[in-house]
Amino acid sequence: MRARGNILVTGGCGFIGTAFLHHLFSLEEYGGTVVNVDKLTYAGNPLNVEQLRRDHGGRRYHFYREDITNTPKIMEILEKHQIQTIVHFAAESHVDRSIVAPTSFIETNIMGTFSLLEAAKAVWANDPQGRFHHISTDEVFGSLGAQGVFTEKTPYDPKSPYSASKASSDHLVRAYAHTYGMNTTLSNCSNNYGPWQFPEKLLPLMILNMQHKKPLPVYGDGSNVRDWLYVMDHVKAIDLILTHAKRNTTWNIGGDCERSNLELLSTLIKVYASYTGEAEEPLRDLITFVRDRPGHDFRYAIDHSLLTTEHGWTPQVSLEKGLWETVRWYLENPDWIESIKTGAYKNWIEANYTGR
Ligand code: NAD
Ligand code: DAU
Repeated sequence: MRARGNILVTGGCGFIGTAFLHHLFSLEEYGGTVVNVDKLTYAGNPLNVEQLRRDHGGRRYHFYREDITNTPKIMEILEKHQIQTIVHFAAESHVDRSIVAPTSFIETNIMGTFSLLEAAKAVWANDPQGRFHHISTDEVFGSLGAQGVFTEKTPYDPKSPYSASKASSDHLVRAYAHTYGMNTTLSNCSNNYGPWQFPEKLLPLMILNMQHKKPLPVYGDGSNVRDWLYVMDHVKAIDLILTHAKRNTTWNIGGDCERSNLELLSTLIKVYASYTGEAEEPLRDLITFVRDRPGHDFRYAIDHSLLTTEHGWTPQVSLEKGLWETVRWYLENPDWIESIKTGAYKNWIEANYTGR
């Protein structure tokens, strides 16, 4: 087993980065220092990790409000905290935003990853153990028809500015491993869902719209297929890769849970109605077909058999259970929702996180 050592997490105030931080601090066997570097864009919410700050802040947990494109600052942080593992989540992550305003996707996803690699290369020049784990997406493989699955060997064919920027960052990571001998690993994961997801993404948006009896906007005819994975299953897979995978390897992570958007919504309505005690029919009546996403990828499906065979990982949380937990979390955290709606978390950031 590879020791994790001190860990730098980028994007730890976003959806999956938050889940990963909570996972790390739940591990009895891990006592290292964890540093969270996050620029706090609209998608980064420090309330997600407030409990970690209270419990461990200034001791095992450190936060820097910083842009990953700032190479000298990242080098300083890597040296100061003697980081042995980087887990790189930070990104612009929403496909629709990449279609209307791609610039920040190029800056953060490509230039930001480049900057981090440069910083790690410089600081770890004499330490071949330092591990750079890059979090990527199944969208780099493009769009499937009705048949087929993505394996680790599927050629890249990204279709949106978001997926093209992620594909570019994946290539940079592999190039740094090949050219400079950096110790890297990479994972490509399918659609995540669960607590802390910014409510621009399909599932939290639908849950909140159901709560307020607003239309449930389905792009096109709702036949597009995604492979859904509960976020805590994803972060466990990442940790397994950090501690067990050989250097310079790539891993697919997926949920064995392909659903068309309409099928997913139907299950969500059932779970939501069962949770709240409401009738399903009025919720179904809220479904509204809207203009399709330009270039909308039809289907993603991940074959994660390599990770299963080599390291025994499989998704543990069923869709019904995961959706129940997700509905429960969004309905039981009105303060979190309100802070986003009113922008209050932004004021809180300015008051509390102007520096470190
Ligand atoms: P998110 O949008 O919820 O969070 C991104 C985080 O990165 C935010 O906290 C944001 O403030 C931070 N960030 C953005 N730009 C930054 C910069 N320049 N410097 C420092 N921090 C910055 O994203 P997510 O859904 O948690 O996704 C995390 C990673 O996982 C991304 O790399 C994404 O491509 C990948 N991924 C996501 C999914 C999914 O379903 N959400 C699936 C597969 C892969
Ligand atoms: O596959 C992994 C990817 O999953 C990640 O790399 C991305 O960061 C993440 O955002 C997600 O991308 P998608 O585009 O698949 O997720 P999104 O939640 O935006 O949309 C899921 C599906 O639902 C997609 O087919 C578009 C559709 N959709 C989405 C929204 C927001 C709707 O029909 N209506 C909506 O309002």
